[in-house]
Amino acid sequence: QPVAVLISGRGSNMGALIAASLDKDYPARIVTVISDKPDAKGLDHAREFGINAVAVPRADFDSKAAHEAAIIAAIDASGAKFVALAGYMRLLSGDFVNTYAGRMINIHPSLLPAFAGLATHERALATGCRVHGCTVHFVTEAMDEGPIIEQEAVRVEANDTPETLAARVLEAEHRIYPKALAMLASGQVRMGRGGQTRFAD
Ligand code: GRF
Repeated sequence: QPVAVLISGRGSNMGALIAASLDKDYPARIVTVISDKPDAKGLDHAREFGINAVAVPRADFDSKAAHEAAIIAAIDASGAKFVALAGYMRLLSGDFVNTYAGRMINIHPSLLPAFAGLATHERALATGCRVHGCTVHFVTEAMDEGPIIEQEAVRVEANDTPETLAARVLEAEHRIYPKALAMLASGQVRMGRGGQTRFAD
């Protein structure tokens, strides 16, 4: 199944999805990578794999709607059926989200519903959490609130800093994101009409 990946930066989760998709038995193929930041490191990384990678900068458009329309055009031109957000740092409009309802997923560096939003590792440490982790979920209009597909817990160590904790959570992200995308692409999971996650028997 063809997949578009949207990034804004480093693209390590994008890299994990590309690496997984090199296996001939993997049910998804990354057909395009789109970044709102022209200097995103992930664009170069994707090109090294021979994957079409394009920048669609917000500054090139008069409005958020025009910017999103250009991204939708790029996704549709690639033939992608699914969209994977991988560190895409812009809030998507309801229209955009609805265009890909049940076909767009995101990775978030916390065990949702705890710590939606930014600075998740700092907040988990400040709260005194002993476990933290990451979540892959369907994208819905409310940020970081869509139905959950997969999670992995990571223990918080006594001497963790936001950086050391982030690094271990990132390793878990690189495990669960390819797994969740495979589940979606192979029909093992879908978003139900009521917006709940449905797993195949
Ligand atoms: C990851 O921590 C992801 O969970 C969050 O943004 C970060 C992106 O990192 N949404 P990368 O660009 O995939 O390396």
